[in-house]
Amino acid sequence: MRYRKVPDETVRRLPFYLRGLLLLLQQGRVGISSQELADLVGVRSWQVRKDFSYFGEFGTPGVGYGIESLTRQIKKILKLDVIQKAALVGAGNLGSAVLAYTGFKVYGFDIAAAFDIDPRKIGRKVNNILIEDVSKLNTLKHRKINLAILAVPADAAQQTVDALVRAGIKGILKFSPCYITVPRKVKVISIDIATDLARLPYYIRTR
Ligand code: NAI
Repeated sequence: MRYRKVPDETVRRLPFYLRGLLLLLQQGRVGISSQELADLVGVRSWQVRKDFSYFGEFGTPGVGYGIESLTRQIKKILKLDVIQKAALVGAGNLGSAVLAYTGFKVYGFDIAAAFDIDPRKIGRKVNNILIEDVSKLNTLKHRKINLAILAVPADAAQQTVDALVRAGIKGILKFSPCYITVPRKVKVISIDIATDLARLPYYIRTR
């Protein structure tokens, strides 16, 4: 199910609520107030209530939220209640670090395939994930993999994305620092440490 008219900012905050809730679950906590949840995420408590209001009735006024049920509901909204398989393309420095990172599992992600163009990397394994020839991207269609992580050089990004779209990929997390075009049905989220870093000095007070 996709909810209508939910602001992107709300969707952006949901994984942060989830991260806080998962931590509390690990600590054996049972309930939480919207103020506590707000403090965990760094927003105001009214914002927490407003964010959840888009999805129906969560929690009990004056009491708060049951952590387990709220976790379940947020996972369901984000479609993380089922294992989400992802493929990585570009197993270089960044791609290999992504493959080696175990923190995606908590959210139900399984990086189930990796691809590269370099014959020296093809056939090797990182974190037990085999690096396959990028010419085999079309096999994703039959492997129930809907998501891709793009970590190829910028000049290879568009052609790789075109191949991913042909292979039925519906969502792309893009590290390659360039603009790409995709059909409307495909969602692209870009991560760019460099441009985030480039706006940081602006906020720094100078003497
Ligand atoms: P890298 O050169 O170590 O890795 C790139 C990998 O892509 C190599 O293994 C190469 O063989 C492979 N490759 C090249 N063409 C390909 C193709 N057509 N199909 C499949 N694989 C292909 O580079 P690094 O440092 O890992 O960076 C990867 C990308 O991520 C670059 O575009 C870089 O600019 C970007 N980057 C973005 C960051 C961010 O914050 N957004 C941070 C660091 C890197």
